[in-house]
Amino acid sequence: MSISKSEFARRRKTLMAMMESDSIAILPSAKEKVRSRDTHYTFRQDNDFFYLTGFNEPDAVLVLVPGREHGEVVMFCRERDPEKEIWDGYRAGPEGACKEYGADDAFPIDDIDEILPGLIEGRERVYYAMGKDAGFDTHVMAWVNSIRAKVRSGATPPGEFLDLDHFLHDMRLYKSAAEIRLMASAAEISADAHVRAMQVCKAGKYEYELEAEIQYACALRGGRQPAYNSIVGGGKNACVLHYIENSEKLKSGDLVLIDAGCEYEYYASDITRTFPVSGKFSKEQKAIYNIVLAAQEAAIAEVRPGNHWNAPHDASVRVIVEGLVELGLLKGKVDKLIETEKYKAFYMHRIGHWLGMDVHDVGDYKVGGEWRVLEPGMVMTVEPGIYVAPDNKKVDARWRGIGVRIEDDVVITKDGCQVLTIGVPKTVAEIEKLMA
Ligand code: GLY
Ligand code: MN
Ligand code: MN
Repeated sequence: MSISKSEFARRRKTLMAMMESDSIAILPSAKEKVRSRDTHYTFRQDNDFFYLTGFNEPDAVLVLVPGREHGEVVMFCRERDPEKEIWDGYRAGPEGACKEYGADDAFPIDDIDEILPGLIEGRERVYYAMGKDAGFDTHVMAWVNSIRAKVRSGATPPGEFLDLDHFLHDMRLYKSAAEIRLMASAAEISADAHVRAMQVCKAGKYEYELEAEIQYACALRGGRQPAYNSIVGGGKNACVLHYIENSEKLKSGDLVLIDAGCEYEYYASDITRTFPVSGKFSKEQKAIYNIVLAAQEAAIAEVRPGNHWNAPHDASVRVIVEGLVELGLLKGKVDKLIETEKYKAFYMHRIGHWLGMDVHDVGDYKVGGEWRVLEPGMVMTVEPGIYVAPDNKKVDARWRGIGVRIEDDVVITKDGCQVLTIGVPKTVAEIEKLMA
């Protein structure tokens, strides 16, 4: 169950239909990255490149040439090499790029400097991700300059350079049925992993042990890489938004916040749950927790077509401010506290972000200066939180160091939304029951 060849082909066609006439698009693959000396990080293809090809090798370049007589989809990639393949694994080679990945024409990557200028020559516009990779910028200019060097023999270099991201990232924002199926799988695997972490959690374990449980549970089902570094913060560590040390012992009486999600078949999931280390919320923890939960529910209720991107955020702010006033953590009138952003001492981030192949996925949040209107097929996270800084002298000591975030992955449907991560308990009663 992954993206079909025809869907990859459809994406290329759609992109080419949006490109100006007389243009060419050039996209590089990701490169292998050294982790230390001669060991590498696990190779991960560039998302834009993968989105258009499904091709999972480094040292490749995709070229789209709308209207080209000998084929619009051209790939450059590593040649087959039996010797190297014994050591480092299978390569598709140019032949495989055509047969298995739908290229019309493919060449060895080592020949790109001879061949690509010929494809660019005569095209007025070049689309590529400008400024993303200085090395690639240099290559593009070198190819173009090699055409400029031949103007006196009649060569016509391109006159315009355009950012490819604009079209491509807009496409990636709207998920197809197949993409949503993969995202639902990623979400389900991660949700079950969070359940496991709740079940095995007990005082005396280290934060990294819960991280390991999550990673293990995800890897067993094909989610071998986390979509981002897992956050496992016990007690006041939950107040550090990007706490990834995960190195401390979990204490009875504390909460633990876990923000973790796997990547599955190139799609991310992103879940946060906060629960008591010993299985029972204290009075203060429960009070804060229930405000965050109510804020999340209010936000999710605003996730529907026609609402703008900021509606869920605004809803969460109101519920959080009302709750904090009720508990006495904020003092004053709700509207005034919202207007003056006094709540930011407790809720300093936004409601969420687009989710897709990237955890913080591509796609604009504003269009023409206005918040984007939500549409079916978009996927976002909804993740309000309250964090009472351990050194906040303005609040009673019993509240200090409590940090709670609840995060789910939500797809916008025709008439509302669907939460993809419902598999992990969320209410105080459900959590306490599971952990009992
Ligand atoms: N885990 C990153 C985020 O929630 O945005
Ligand atoms: Mn998260
Ligand atoms: Mn998130």
